[in-house]
Amino acid sequence: MNVHIFDTQLELDAFAANLITDIVTSKPNAVLGLATGSTPIGIYAKIVEKYRKGEVSFADVTSFNLDEYVGLKPYNDQSYAYYMNKHLFAHIDIPDTQTFLPNGMADDLEAECANYDRMLLERQIDIQLLGLGHNGHIGFNEPDHALSGGTHVVKLKQATLEANARFFATMEEVPEYAITMGVGSILKANSIVLAVRGADKADIVKQALTGPITTEVPASLLQTHPRVTVLLDREAGRML
Ligand code: GLP
Repeated sequence: MNVHIFDTQLELDAFAANLITDIVTSKPNAVLGLATGSTPIGIYAKIVEKYRKGEVSFADVTSFNLDEYVGLKPYNDQSYAYYMNKHLFAHIDIPDTQTFLPNGMADDLEAECANYDRMLLERQIDIQLLGLGHNGHIGFNEPDHALSGGTHVVKLKQATLEANARFFATMEEVPEYAITMGVGSILKANSIVLAVRGADKADIVKQALTGPITTEVPASLLQTHPRVTVLLDREAGRML
């Protein structure tokens, strides 16, 4: 793994944005794997800035998001569909028809998962952006004795519900289920960028990067991938 530790958030954001836009510049029809959470917000802002300066176009890009909550409509401001429009899609020239997220409102969630996997099978993700959950989850692949390779419905762990609660008015509103790409699909990406910030993630960063490879720390499976770039701020990297 290629690990970079940055003094400032802006440097981390700019570095991550460059990794993504460099791929799009050299391959205009690149397939991007995108993530949500608070960490990528600054990265997306930097990508939008580069687009506005005319440095990059996303007209031929396709994107797949990692995950979506079950039961939130796309215009609910806590849905990941809303997040992606707010932070990225509405500000760049990627056509709506080329951006994909799992549909957490599907009547048949199993069919939705199978459909998402079918679309992923037809393409190779060139670069997959990831954040890291406090318990080591990537996407919404929660720690467990076994993990799923493909897209699946997941019941979120208590720790994740509590972490997500900060975005909702009451605990009751926090969705308990999500659809997530599986670790198999994540690991099939040609390259992966894991971006992590904050002292509260220092311990899990250490476990994920230097601990045993275990499904109990889903991010530790990234150690098996040949092209992972890890971007940390000083606090997240302080235990390495
Ligand atoms: C959610 C998302 C993950 C993300 C994680 C960390 O659980 N499903 O993809 O990595 O949040 O988010 P944050 O960057 O806000 O800590």
